[in-house]
Amino acid sequence: MDAVLRHRMRWSESTAPQAEGNTTGRSAAAAADPVLRAQALTLEYRTPDRVVRATHEVDFSVQEGDRFVLLGPSGCGKSTLLKAVAGFVQPAAGRILLDGKQVERPGADRVVVFQEFDQLWPWLTVRQNIAFPLRQARGLSRKEAAQRAEHYLDKVGLARFADAHPHTLSGGMKQRVAIARALAMRPRILLMDEPFAALDALTRRRMQQELLELWEDAPFTLLFVTHSIEEALLVGNRILLLSPHPGRVRAELNSPRAGLHARDNPAADAEFQAQARRIHRLLFDEDEPGSAPAAHEEKR
Ligand SMILES: Nc1ncnc2c1ncn2[C@@H]1O[C@H](COP(=O)(O)OP(=O)(O)OP(=O)(O)O)[C@@H](O)[C@H]1O
Ligand SMILES: [Mg+2]
Repeated sequence: MDAVLRHRMRWSESTAPQAEGNTTGRSAAAAADPVLRAQALTLEYRTPDRVVRATHEVDFSVQEGDRFVLLGPSGCGKSTLLKAVAGFVQPAAGRILLDGKQVERPGADRVVVFQEFDQLWPWLTVRQNIAFPLRQARGLSRKEAAQRAEHYLDKVGLARFADAHPHTLSGGMKQRVAIARALAMRPRILLMDEPFAALDALTRRRMQQELLELWEDAPFTLLFVTHSIEEALLVGNRILLLSPHPGRVRAELNSPRAGLHARDNPAADAEFQAQARRIHRLLFDEDEPGSAPAAHEEKR
């Protein structure tokens, strides 16, 4: 509950977009040390004949309880950024700090949910899929792991399917299990790479809503990758816009969503649409009609 209040305080006090590092007008909680910090992060892939630069000197900070979204066109390095935070890709330059400590390898404090439906172990039941990493990585007893698995399965509405095997579930159900498994680990930061992109439009919308409800129920810190402007605005409270390949920070914005039901509110909806148009202009390098883009919002 504290985290929800803290988050709401921060939201209400930072509705005007601010460049990163500018804490003026932010609450004391928001000015606290970030959970995650990327500093001048350049990421590259080295193949025998060439070097592919995926991101160039990217900076951002994720505060506790943020739903921080990386948004940009295909190939701008979003997945690579997430993999670097997860510890799968080492920076060519710059660094990543988790609670002030440099990320050097994967760890149970960062759990990733991917887009693919096949991220569950097919030979284990749904309950076992969640309990197994709890025993391995978190050292829980068999009983504790099963209890925690059931708690999180209940949270995603799949308690009845605890003994089912993944191949008997729909894509949406599999993603719910993957989310339950990730949350059950209680990571310091939950990493999601387009987790709903392979779902049909209705299921995708429902899953976005469910993710927000899970967050409202027990706030966690989220780093979420998408190339959908609408999804970024629905899911995120902070949005980092990345330019096309290689990804550089284009701008950092707040989402105008005041809560789960903002879209029921016509005024909030108008603000939502306005912010979506603004992001579109920023991503596609178009000028704001009648005015230059807000200088304090631009990173470069
Ligand atoms: N294993 C790899 N080896 C070489 N180049 C790679 C590798 N993985 C990604 N790249 C390149 O790095 C760049 C960034 O890729 P990345 O997958 O991070 O983009 P993305 O923003 O996640 O795109 P999408 O929205 O399509 O998922 C692209 O140019 C891509 O071709
Ligand atoms: Mg990707």
